Amino acid sequence: MAERNSGDIDDLLRETRRFPPSPAIRAQAHVRDEAIYEDAARDPQAFWARMAAELEWSRPWDAILDWQPPHAKWFVGGRLNASVNCLDRHLRGARRNKAAIVWEGEPGDRRTLTYFDLYREVSAFANVLKALGVRKGDRVAIYLPLVPELAVAMLACARIGAVHNVVFGGFSAESLRDRINDSTCRLLVTADGGYRRGHVVPLKQVADEAVAGAPSIEHVIVVQRIGAAAPVAMSPGRDRWYHELMADAPGACAPEPMDAEDMLYILYTSGTTGKPKGIVHTTGGYLVGTSATTKLVFDLRDEDVYWCTADIGWVTGHSYVVYGPLANGATCVMYEGAPDWPAKDRFWSIIERHGVTILYTAPTAIRAFMRWGAEWPARHDLSTLRLLGSVGEPINPEAWMWYHHHIGGDRCPVLDTWWQTETGAIMIAPLPGVTTLKPGSATRPFPGISAEIRNQRGDAVQVGGGLLALTRPWPSMLRGIYGDPDRFLRQYWSTWGPGVYVTGDGAKRDADGDFWLLGRVDDVINVAGHRLGTMEVESALVDHAGVAEAAVVGKAHEIKGQAIAAFVTLKEGIGMTPALADALKEHVVRKIGAIARPDDILFTADLPKTRSGKIMRRLLRDIAEGKALGDTTTLADPAVVARLKANYEEEYG
Ligand code: WTA
Repeated sequence: MAERNSGDIDDLLRETRRFPPSPAIRAQAHVRDEAIYEDAARDPQAFWARMAAELEWSRPWDAILDWQPPHAKWFVGGRLNASVNCLDRHLRGARRNKAAIVWEGEPGDRRTLTYFDLYREVSAFANVLKALGVRKGDRVAIYLPLVPELAVAMLACARIGAVHNVVFGGFSAESLRDRINDSTCRLLVTADGGYRRGHVVPLKQVADEAVAGAPSIEHVIVVQRIGAAAPVAMSPGRDRWYHELMADAPGACAPEPMDAEDMLYILYTSGTTGKPKGIVHTTGGYLVGTSATTKLVFDLRDEDVYWCTADIGWVTGHSYVVYGPLANGATCVMYEGAPDWPAKDRFWSIIERHGVTILYTAPTAIRAFMRWGAEWPARHDLSTLRLLGSVGEPINPEAWMWYHHHIGGDRCPVLDTWWQTETGAIMIAPLPGVTTLKPGSATRPFPGISAEIRNQRGDAVQVGGGLLALTRPWPSMLRGIYGDPDRFLRQYWSTWGPGVYVTGDGAKRDADGDFWLLGRVDDVINVAGHRLGTMEVESALVDHAGVAEAAVVGKAHEIKGQAIAAFVTLKEGIGMTPALADALKEHVVRKIGAIARPDDILFTADLPKTRSGKIMRRLLRDIAEGKALGDTTTLADPAVVARLKANYEEEYG
């Protein structure tokens, strides 16, 4: 499914401009020379131990790493609490009264919580959870808009040793229900709604539908975000208002000392089957990985105002809205709504209003800003910015250059950061004071990380393209797939032996040793930075009574990176009508969520299959992208393809 290929990179490299660190950036950077890479490579465990020593541990570790491939234990025997590291630790000095969260709601309402405020709120909510019977190890589902209570709920779980399972507020009732059931959550935290482009998103209603099929849920706590404008039904005995429970909750709560390897959270992400997998992260290693990368990649300093625009429902929000920046005592901006509400300069007005210095966002957003035009950022003073980050998909050089020039005023490094839900923290990214940047390249592995390009045979490729592998354990690595140890082994560790992690991404390494990410090589697609499985969408389609078979591919899309194209064969006697195509799109939205809505649906009498019956997705992608078709000789019936292509062009060409 690669979104760009090796040949494109060769062309790029010939013209690539290089951006060495500017004197201004170097002068302030935590890291200014190459030695950090060499030191870390010589003794990676010692490097990570140095990073870990910056956190607060209630019991020191006995061993840095216990590696029984593919099972890793980091900081063995060590004890710590993530909420203590994000909160209590900062209360002893000047950060006590520093803003931790600077929040804007979409309608324009604002809240600022200092570290002390956040500490009180988290402690009180931890007491609320305890009073409702939540104990260490219990799972708590969180389905909220981007409001401060989302971070509060996560940190409160961490404080008492409960495991949070955050579900993105755009997911459907069924998706929420499946994620609750897979990890048997006892409690759900939701809201009466959230705002998106001026509309109320009825989260409680969706949550009610989900909970109706989730017998493990004992209580639902409801944050009042909307109030009178969106009254919700409260189920007596089960549902409680957040503000009512909080009114009586004590504001201090002793933190649970957690083993470094105790579970911190589960986050579901899409894979190559129809069923999302619950990625498991533990406490010590995850916090070390997220805090070290936040500090060094974003070169975080106390006076920074840091804004990662991700929703906390995705891993980027877990690691770089909540844990990484709060562990570093940063001031974090959070914004609830859409970037074009009420106008297309909302991001730039937020940056100006709060004096944001570090902006971390996604290429899909940058491409939308490009489309809207440079006049929108030009209306605002963005001179406080000093670093720009990018994550979620390969950033095309045009978007990189636009971001650098129009947002960063040619003075801010653009840091492309490659990583995954499974890696927990940034794996490949520049260090701003050291690394020479190339637009479109994520550059090099973070210190202590070992990445390789491998060809199909498994040989390492020094210069050239292949599959991206991680060849050494790292602290924030996933510890498993919740409830599915076999899938964990099969999916990530079986291609090249149990010590080599398979990322699922294609990449290319240039002669300087820099990495260029090419996109997924498996059946995972990346739509506007949101990770989706083609099989998930296919299952949603065949769930419709009229559908016999479906094949879903990601096709290149100017803004979203990839968009969903679905090829659908209908059951006997069902008419191929535009109304049915619309109904199928709605069906997918109902099953998964709006992020999975197909752009194109093409009805077809047959799908191109190999003689052994495998659907040839590559061909379908070429058809959806309007490309010339390559070799079709392995097809059972080559005429199918020609017909499909003609039909597609008629419909969408
Ligand atoms: C893609 C998001 C190229 C990649 C943090 C990966 C990227 C998947 C980049 C993980 C990047 C993320 N350059 N591709 N800088 N960042 N990806 O789990 O395909 O939602 O495998 O984690 O996004 O998506 P996930």
